[in-house]
Amino acid sequence: MIKMVGKNSTKLKNMKGITLLSLGIAAIFATAITSCNNQTSNNTMEVKKGITKAAFGNADGKEVFLYTLTNAKGTQVKISTYGGVVTSWVSADKNDKKSSIVLGFDSLSGYLAKPPYFGAIIGRYGNRIAKGKFKIDTTTYTLATNNGLNHLHGGNKGFDKVIWDATTENDSVPALKLSYLSKDGEEGYPGNLTVDVLYTLTDDDELKIEYNASTDKPTVINLTNHSYFNLTGDVTNTILNHQLQIDADNYTPVDTTLIPTGEISPVKNTPFDFTSATKIGLRIDSVKGGYDHNFVLNKKDSSLTKVATLTEETTGRKLEVFTMEPGLQFYSGNFLNGTIKTSDGKAINLHTGLCLETQHFPDSPNQPKFPSTLLVPGQKYHTVTVYKLSVNK
Ligand code: GLA
Repeated sequence: MIKMVGKNSTKLKNMKGITLLSLGIAAIFATAITSCNNQTSNNTMEVKKGITKAAFGNADGKEVFLYTLTNAKGTQVKISTYGGVVTSWVSADKNDKKSSIVLGFDSLSGYLAKPPYFGAIIGRYGNRIAKGKFKIDTTTYTLATNNGLNHLHGGNKGFDKVIWDATTENDSVPALKLSYLSKDGEEGYPGNLTVDVLYTLTDDDELKIEYNASTDKPTVINLTNHSYFNLTGDVTNTILNHQLQIDADNYTPVDTTLIPTGEISPVKNTPFDFTSATKIGLRIDSVKGGYDHNFVLNKKDSSLTKVATLTEETTGRKLEVFTMEPGLQFYSGNFLNGTIKTSDGKAINLHTGLCLETQHFPDSPNQPKFPSTLLVPGQKYHTVTVYKLSVNK
């Protein structure tokens, strides 16, 4: 309650008050408008210890948010509710220089321009399903064909292009839980699929991604994350000097449309032999189009196991991949061609990012010899992948 003192002074004060109030309201509106337009808004608020939330623009008539997880070392991972995209992962290199080890954009507009799955959650099915068709029992399902004759990464509007609901947690380390209901028939897939993805950033610089899902009709599922890593932290460098080791004695050869032939072939004496650390650029020219292959991991069960290590000498960075999945798609950024630019205008050229997509094998629904991707009602889909970053000084 405002205390009144004398008539005239009260009037004056009220007028001043009104003016101030209107100015205040105008300022609030102006900020709101700028923050809607300016997708790298500065209206950041802390929601939990180590977690901030900021407006990131609008898509599909909904607000999109950008969450930042910060750990005790000061490493920061930013995740958008649009596509569940990891937009940046900033950490210090061996010279204490901070940069992001993933390709991404500062604003939502970069993502709305449909870059090839940058940092996104991929679903319902990571990688290709031949001719967009598969059968469960006697029913044939037809999916969107968005990659020549084939279905890729969930279709025209996969999980990389939907808006996820978000909740945050901080038991001891910051975490972001994203949830999405994929309705029966979405992109041609059967069953209402309830999905959640929990991103956790530990103090050991591990980005843990935990995927959970359930369905009310038999369906197929293969979730992954499509981050493009470049450990130099500088998109003007290619990833060809990175060293990669993958614990896989076999891989799944593909036909000209990148659908597995069904064979499981040894990597020995081929350019696919990454059983010991090897420079990516060493043999890439002998692989037509570059690496875009599923490696059959040597691990024998679905326990969380270390399956790959990526290192980069100039920054001393090392990225280790742990997964419960049986396969790993190593994609060497073969379709990047400079047409897409970073938020600060740098061209994203060929081989300037690489993906290590933990997954079930491509086209499994049509390949009886591959591990099954069927999910039935009552069954819980649960899989975990961890990307662990460290620096050799
Ligand atoms: C995956 C696929 C590639 C390509 C990229 C995105 O890695 O296997 O063929 O589609 O995604 O461009």
